[in-house]
Formats: sequence, structure tokens, C-alpha cells
Amino acid sequence: MNSLNNAVYFHDEEYFMQAISMKELCDNHETPFYLYDMNDILNKQEQLTKYFSWNKLKIFYAMKANYNPHILQVMNENGFCLDTVSPAEMLLALRIGFDKDRILFTANNMTDTEMNIVQQQGVLLNIDSLSRLERYSKCFPGSKVSLRINPGVVAGENKKVQTAGDFNKFGILLIDIPKALEITKQYGIKIVGLHEHTGSGISDTAKALESMNNLLGIASRQEFPDLEFIDFGGGFKVRYHPEEVEIDYETFGEKTIQLFDRFCKGYGKELALYFEPGKYIVAESGCLVVKVNTIKKAKERYIIGTDSGFPHMIRPVLYGAYHHIINISNPFGELGKYDIYGNICESGDCFASDREIPEIREGDYLAIQNTGAYCCSMASNYNLRPIPSEYIIYNNELLVSRQKDTHAELADKVLSDYGFKGSNVNY
Ligand SMILES: Cc1ncc(COP(=O)(O)O)c(C=O)c1O
Repeated sequence: MNSLNNAVYFHDEEYFMQAISMKELCDNHETPFYLYDMNDILNKQEQLTKYFSWNKLKIFYAMKANYNPHILQVMNENGFCLDTVSPAEMLLALRIGFDKDRILFTANNMTDTEMNIVQQQGVLLNIDSLSRLERYSKCFPGSKVSLRINPGVVAGENKKVQTAGDFNKFGILLIDIPKALEITKQYGIKIVGLHEHTGSGISDTAKALESMNNLLGIASRQEFPDLEFIDFGGGFKVRYHPEEVEIDYETFGEKTIQLFDRFCKGYGKELALYFEPGKYIVAESGCLVVKVNTIKKAKERYIIGTDSGFPHMIRPVLYGAYHHIINISNPFGELGKYDIYGNICESGDCFASDREIPEIREGDYLAIQNTGAYCCSMASNYNLRPIPSEYIIYNNELLVSRQKDTHAELADKVLSDYGFKGSNVNY
């Protein structure tokens, strides 16, 4: 059947995640819920380690993609490092048990308060502007730093997630490098790492190699004698649409390693190689399971209403992203065309338009695939609806990772957040 990836597969006339029947899961757990395959996440780590075969390779998982603490806990046990972008992300990582040396902090438009919190914990800062570099250097002369460079290459699947190039807010521009060196020299700062992150969902590996080449060109200059690592960021694309071709990561990995090996030989030292994948590690592991509760027919179109909405999966609204959807309840139904909506008060609240899916009936369960990255971590309580529960399947066992609030609990939380004591509302 037409599952998009291996995390959900068809066997004996029904869909499974690992050894667990999706249908059974839906019958026994209230929708909507997020479901993650932990072993799939660990497989992704193994794949990258194989493709980018380098002694000192470190995978700094970009935890913004999904900061579920149970997932992070298993990642910690399995040697992941973390890319963090806010003090709370960094503190969460430390509390879960990640050693400070396995965390990097890359905030954009960082404040003094943020800078101080991170420095106090001994986590390395990756600084992306001259003004922040100057303030950091004045406050902490003689310390270490990593610099985020804008390598002047535009890459990434849409404008909103292209994070380099001339008109971009991220990174120190190539022309500003002499000024950055002047600042670090003045305050005795050691530049131990150079970093780039050109965008998310990069399909053009030639572009990625071009930006790596640019960064290594800078690193080769004699003004950077203290480098310990080069960080090529994240951006590894995953297949969201069944017709998208798989990226040839094996070849890309080989080319990257050739490039890096040549650089290290010229540099005279084997540096560590860092990557910061988010999407690649977790996207395919997850699905958002929703229930169909209303069907309308309007001018030859079937309008399917579900019990979730864009606050639980904002990528289609925000980026026009495609997410594959399967009908768990009726996999052998006759194919039809459907528009699938959520329950939010905006017509943009649409998961899919004109989508061919086996017949959808009221009460059916649908799984929206590839929702392991940038879905729950971007979720909100908009319209005051609870954020769905999260379940993880690890070694064929189901873990209830987070139980969603009831409607009453959510209402009470709002009152409590705003300082209301008690409540006189009867439910
Ligand atoms: C600095 C940095 N590193 C890594 C990532 C992860 O990107 P992706 O999930 O596309 O791999 C991001 C995403 O925004 C980022 O800003």
C-alpha cells in the first residue's frame, strides 16, 4: 500500500508501526495524536554515520525539530550531540544529561541575557554577527568561540528556510571576516569552530558542496590556527512527496569527505566534522493521526473534516508543504479525490487539497506522514484546543510520552497562567 516511508508499513491487510497495529492503536487511544518510531530515528543516525565516514564525526541533532524529552533521552544514550537555539533548549539538554561539550548554542539575534546564561553553563556559543561578537569578546576576553559564516550560497526548499546568501539575516558576511578577526585578536578570543547552515531541505547537493568549499576556503586562511571543528549545519532533505527522488547521500557523503580530507591535510590537523540535521533525523519517524468526523459534498468535491488542524501541523499553511496521507481504516477503499481540513476557524486550515486517497468515511482514521519534524515543536493551543498526546514506539513497545490536556485542564491552565486563583466555572 502507499505508505511514504518505512516507519509505517503495510502487512497482512493493515498498517503497522514496528510490531504495533495502527488500527488497534487508534481504537484504543483518543485522536489526534503524534506517533514516533524511535528506532527509525536511531537508524537515521546510523545512516549518516555511514555516509559521512569520518573519525571525528559528530551529529548535533537540531532539537528545534522535535524536543520531545523521551526522544532526547534515548538520543543522549546513543551518542547524539545537540544543536540548541534558545536558553531553554540548552537548559533542557543539560537537564536531560547531555554533557556541555556535546551542546552547541546558535541563537540568531541573541540578547545579552541569553549570552550570559549560556556562557555560565560552559556551552560553546556560535556567534553570527559582528556586534554580538564584539559584546561577547568584551565580556569574556580570552574565551573560545565558534563563528557562523554566511557562505554566500542560497539553498533550501523554500524562501522561508533559506538561511544564507546576500539578503539574509544569518551569519557573518564574507566581507566582514577581517573585522571579525580584528575583534577576536583585540580580546584574545580563540576561534575554535567555523559554522554554516545554508537552508533546510536542500535538494541540490552541488550547492551544498559549493558552500562547504567556500567555508573551507576561509578556514584554510592562516588567521584561523586554533580550529577544532568545522560545522556544515543541517538541511538534509527528506522525501515528502512520493514522486520526489531520494537524494543520493552515499555519493554526497563521499564527495564531502574527500573535500574535508583534502582540507584537513592542507590545514595540518584532523579536525572534527559536525553536522546539525533536524528534519533528516526525525521527520520520517512521525505521523499525526487524526479522525474524520464530518464529510460534506460540494460541487463534486468531498470536504473532509477532522479533529485536528493547523496548530498541530502548520507546515502546509506556513510553507505550502505537501504531507502524504494514508487511510488507516479503509486501505482497500475505492480511490477518490478529497480536500482534507482541520477544525480551526480559518479556511486556510487545510491539510491537503484534491488528494487521491482510498474512500474516506466518517469515523475513519487518517495518518499524516512525515510529521516527526517541525510539527509538534511548532504546535500551539490556538482556538484553545489541546496539543495532541505523543506516543513513541521503541523496540516494539509503546510509550505514552505525553498525555494531552483535557479541555477542562486547558481552560484551567489559562486561568492559572493569568493569575486567576481557583475558578467558579462548572464543567
Ligand atoms: C543553525 C541551524 N542548524 C540546523 C538546522 C536544522 O535544519 P534541518 O532541520 O533542515 O536539518 C537549522 C534549522 O533551522 C538551523 O537554523
